[in-house]
Amino acid sequence: MSKKVFLSGVQPSGKPHIGNYFGALKQFVDLQNEHDGYVFIADYHALHSLRNAKEMKKNIISVLLDYLAIGLDPEKVTFFKQSDISEHTELAWIFDTITTMPYLMRAHAFKDAEAKNKEIDVGTFNYPVLMAADILLYAPDVVPVGADQKQHVEIARDIAEKFNHTYGETFKLPEPMIVKDVAVVLGTDGKKMSKSYGNTIPLFASYDEIKKCVMGIVTDSGGGIPQNVYAIHNLLRPASELLPLYESKAGKYKELKEMLIEDLEKFIAPLRTRRKEFEKDIPKALKILKEGSGKAKKIASLKMKEIREKIGVKVY
Ligand code: TRP
Repeated sequence: MSKKVFLSGVQPSGKPHIGNYFGALKQFVDLQNEHDGYVFIADYHALHSLRNAKEMKKNIISVLLDYLAIGLDPEKVTFFKQSDISEHTELAWIFDTITTMPYLMRAHAFKDAEAKNKEIDVGTFNYPVLMAADILLYAPDVVPVGADQKQHVEIARDIAEKFNHTYGETFKLPEPMIVKDVAVVLGTDGKKMSKSYGNTIPLFASYDEIKKCVMGIVTDSGGGIPQNVYAIHNLLRPASELLPLYESKAGKYKELKEMLIEDLEKFIAPLRTRRKEFEKDIPKALKILKEGSGKAKKIASLKMKEIREKIGVKVY
């Protein structure tokens, strides 16, 4: 039997935090041994919020190094850049013609964006359509994503069904895949860990940064188990080890925080070292990405030929 296929994309939007890692990134590394994989840098998606060429370039390279550092293996996973494969935007247009506005207006991300700003750009509105094209070109079985992206994968399924219904069987329906235990990683203030709340622990944090983040964790004054400290610690150690420890040190917040700092350092230090190694040879990292894009291009262009035939624009 052939291996199952997974695919996921990541926006080049700055430094990842441990919430991103446990909620999504780690899955790619776990999946790469049993699956054929596609992971790509969604730079065209990021354009809707990042309008600075220098920053864009910097972020693309940064995310490339992040992924190599966490152990994504380009021998096992096709690791590429969205903007290298023009078929994504081409297919998004075709999908635009079979997707209605009222349907897209029901998306959570659109509603959130609209609540903040009425002057939404068409790219933000269309975001799920481009994402559907990203996914469907490569016929993945599963799409590992954070919980916030589940609806986007469902939209991709709906678009695939609509296309199949209109033009004949062309696309496989993908399944979203969300790690249940860590669908939401809590930040240092007990709210969802998110850059916009400023409550994150960076994935490649220095020892001093780790210390600062952990010491800043908000604890209640009840004297029991500090839930916010525990929730983060639980990402690194199973409850069976952690609970007895926390029970025996109930109320000793400082000591528990110090233990968390040491465990975080143990987990982060090797990642930090690997990232520094890749950072020394950026042309080599870029070559890896370019080769990945070459592989992806072959698959996407073959699929696009089939699609052009299906919709009837292929006359020679
Ligand atoms: N929207 C995703 C995010 O912000 C990134 C993304 C773009 C993606 N295209 C994708 C994820 C295709 C999975 C599949 O996290």
